Amino acid sequence: MPLLSSLRNLGRKSAFQDWPGLIEGYRRWLPVSERTPVITLREGGTPLIPAPAVAERIGRGVKVFLKYDGLNPTGSFKDRGMTMAISKAKEAGSSAVICASTGNTSAAAAAYARRAGMRAFVLIPDGYVAQGKLAQALLYGAEVLAVRGNFDQALTIVREVAERYPVTLVNSLNPYRLQGQKTAAFEVVDALGDAPDWLCIPMGNAGNISAYWMGFQEYRQAGLSRKLPRMMGFQASGSAPLVLGHTVEQPDTIATAIRIGNPANREKALKVRSESGGAFNAVTDAEIVKAYKLLGSQEGVFCEPASAASVAGLLQQADVVPAGATVVCVLTGNGLKDPTCAIENNDAAFHPDLNPDLATVAQVMGF
Ligand code: F0G
Repeated sequence: MPLLSSLRNLGRKSAFQDWPGLIEGYRRWLPVSERTPVITLREGGTPLIPAPAVAERIGRGVKVFLKYDGLNPTGSFKDRGMTMAISKAKEAGSSAVICASTGNTSAAAAAYARRAGMRAFVLIPDGYVAQGKLAQALLYGAEVLAVRGNFDQALTIVREVAERYPVTLVNSLNPYRLQGQKTAAFEVVDALGDAPDWLCIPMGNAGNISAYWMGFQEYRQAGLSRKLPRMMGFQASGSAPLVLGHTVEQPDTIATAIRIGNPANREKALKVRSESGGAFNAVTDAEIVKAYKLLGSQEGVFCEPASAASVAGLLQQADVVPAGATVVCVLTGNGLKDPTCAIENNDAAFHPDLNPDLATVAQVMGF
């Protein structure tokens, strides 16, 4: 009976639990105090999604999960770092922030800075930022400076600007960024009940891999996990300074988010690799696109090309994954960020220019 069941529901706790954002969710792990104004869009709390189609390709009882950080408020993991960086900048009395960005950092910086009533200056490589990200920076109200150069050049400039002028740098050189981003590792352990055996993650400036490692270590030290994962970092083969061991002057890849030749967190990343017994490998654009299409068409998960590098890397390293291992692949950004890439890279049946009548539609459908 509808009335009875709705009365019963009144006394029952809903399965839905509101998530307060990661600063409140993980407050005791973060460098905040009662004086810190919390600038939040309720970021974090993203799902860990099983990936049976990827797991089937690996075989040998390996379990694969996707940490889908594309479901953050501005569509990437950058929101985790930005809620912290902007809250601390606000606490320190700053009225403007600046970053260099391949797109996602600029979107997140713009959203959080504007919400905090601050100016947001973003330097982007002209012509190499995906449509969705540029749209976000503009709409959120950033002051967008598109430079004729790449990300590495833009980062050099913003570091100098922040040294000379009263503007806070919110790239991952800002230590609060990594503090916020480490919460993704907490969430993975909270969801699995322990750390995974492998963490596969794309690397650009290498801030995120460093943040995850910090999070896994803190939880392990607190006794909240029994083990630590091997950190498996992947770069696009045309932009793979950490794999090659030297700077790449002209980085190039379809995954524009990680089109970086001189990573700012190079030393941290190398330390993560040795401490975790991990490995860094390069994946080609073809491998990235294959994984990107597999995730969309077999798992129902739409990520941006840079994110698919984590799954491309896992598939490439399939033979060395231990049998029965639990693997988490980090999907750093939402597929909607880069619609051009999806439209140009899919195996869908698209039938344009049809007559608007039943006979035509039925014929195309094969009836
Ligand atoms: N995935 C996506 C979708 C990214 O946007 C980035 C970095 C990375 C992976 C790599 O993370 O730099 O911490 O190793 N994007 C930066 C930006 C550079 O400007 O949005 P990282």
